[in-house]
Amino acid sequence: MNWLYIVGLIVFLLFSFVTLFGAPFLPTLNAQTTEALDLLDLKPGQTLTELGSGDGRILRAAARRGIYAIGYELNPVLVIWSRLASWRYRRLITVHWGNYWRHSLPLTDGIYVFLLQSYMKKLDTKIIQEAKKPIKLVSYAFQIPNKKHSKLLNGLYLYSYKIGPPKTKIG
Ligand SMILES: C[S@@+](CC[C@H](N)C(=O)[O-])C[C@H]1O[C@@H](n2cnc3c(N)ncnc32)[C@H](O)[C@@H]1O
Repeated sequence: MNWLYIVGLIVFLLFSFVTLFGAPFLPTLNAQTTEALDLLDLKPGQTLTELGSGDGRILRAAARRGIYAIGYELNPVLVIWSRLASWRYRRLITVHWGNYWRHSLPLTDGIYVFLLQSYMKKLDTKIIQEAKKPIKLVSYAFQIPNKKHSKLLNGLYLYSYKIGPPKTKIG
């Protein structure tokens, strides 16, 4: 019986330690998943990145629309779970195990996040510094400070980052 407690404790610790680096696991509801993807309005063949991809439900919903989906998730239990659950979409879905603050943003057309308010400014800076092309961002529940959203739908905020080519100095 002791091993059951040990396994339970390990799983508990894995879900808890994540809060040192970001939001704890709380999945987006199915209705909001559909609405988030509608807001992003990505086309088949485009790429969605999810920072903190949880159980992978957004990645799978994106893949069902023919969208490439890249997830970053710190909790190894959720990484294994989402990889297994996404097996049939493996051509479209990649789940990276790791801390998204330590990974550069991949080439992506859209980003989905469900973080905490305290991380939103850091996220804004990360996108501005690392985006290689224009990006649409949907954030569930939390807003980017001092940035105007272009749409709001049931707690989902849509933002646009218009990243231009690097400016060359004249003279
Ligand atoms: C609020 S949940 C949202 C899950 C999923 N995005 C969804 O909407 O269903 C936040 C997720 O981010 C993960 N997470 C938190 N901080 C992280 C970090 N620094 N790097 C990678 N994943 C992180 C958590 O383990 C959790 O699964």
